[in-house]
Amino acid sequence: MPTPLVIDTDTAQDDCVALLVGLLDPAADLRAITMVAGNVGFDQQVRNAFLTLNVAGRLGEVPVHLGCRAPLTRAWVSAENVHGDGSGGLRMDQSGLEPESEHAVDALVRLAAEHPGELSIVAIGPLTNIAMAVAKDPDFARNVGSLYVMGGSNNGRGNITAAAEFNFYVDPEAAKAVFAAGFDVTVVPWDPLTLRQAVFGQERLDRIEAIGTPLSDFFTDVCAATLEFDRSVGIDGTTHPDSLTAAVLLHPELVRRSARYHVDVETAGELTRGYSAMSWGVHGLEPNATVVEEIDAEGFHAYLSGVLATETVPARKITRSV
Ligand code: BDR
Ligand code: CA
Repeated sequence: MPTPLVIDTDTAQDDCVALLVGLLDPAADLRAITMVAGNVGFDQQVRNAFLTLNVAGRLGEVPVHLGCRAPLTRAWVSAENVHGDGSGGLRMDQSGLEPESEHAVDALVRLAAEHPGELSIVAIGPLTNIAMAVAKDPDFARNVGSLYVMGGSNNGRGNITAAAEFNFYVDPEAAKAVFAAGFDVTVVPWDPLTLRQAVFGQERLDRIEAIGTPLSDFFTDVCAATLEFDRSVGIDGTTHPDSLTAAVLLHPELVRRSARYHVDVETAGELTRGYSAMSWGVHGLEPNATVVEEIDAEGFHAYLSGVLATETVPARKITRSV
């Protein structure tokens, strides 16, 4: 039976690829897309989500709920310097495309409560909506079957600062609340996992481009700005932590090694805002999360290539802005 899931996203670049996974993998039953403030301007993220639905040939089939437009207590921090507009400058007529009137937090609470223990959430942006749902419904964490989080680093480098990964940096209070809430949570971290095993270098990118479907063209376009940024900071390829997070939920066989950790997030540090303290069992702290440590990297690339090889018929014409 396909896995019922919601993807909570700040849709830009790899978030788009993660949505394709949720939309096109037969193992997934994507019940909703919930939007949270993160990578790029909120309204642009919503346009990117509809664009992705269109390229997947699923426009109008999956509800899009608008969530928190800012972190819990702090000002929004953008990653537009990394992702551009997050769509590679792709455009389509968005007239008549309406998000749901129900707020994302209400939708998350409702969907989890409808079938307690069955819904999975793939959270690939700042954790603001998830923390709000925890605050709103004391049963939310218990009702969610599993929560897959892209965020933090496992005793490794950050990306937005030396100490912090972007999703946790943007809303550290939310991330802290989520790890204290009692979810069955699995974490896909930035470093070392993503940097070692979910970077697609030129040879892998060439193989994807050669697939020659609307989806592989879309992938190349949405990843172009990030590729340029990554190379400027010494990463030799595009980074895919968000699509990896969706993939490991649907295909746990991609995980070669994981371990239980106690994960907590720094909210008070001057230089360490959003730092994820991942304690590996020797500091007297109860484990509260499973952290993915190693994946089948070639298997992941092959899997995504398979998703991108799907022949789709976008209902609306997509153009590239100059
Ligand atoms: C995370 O931050 C965002 O820029 C990406 O979408 C990903 O979710 C990586 O730090
Ligand atoms: Ca993201």
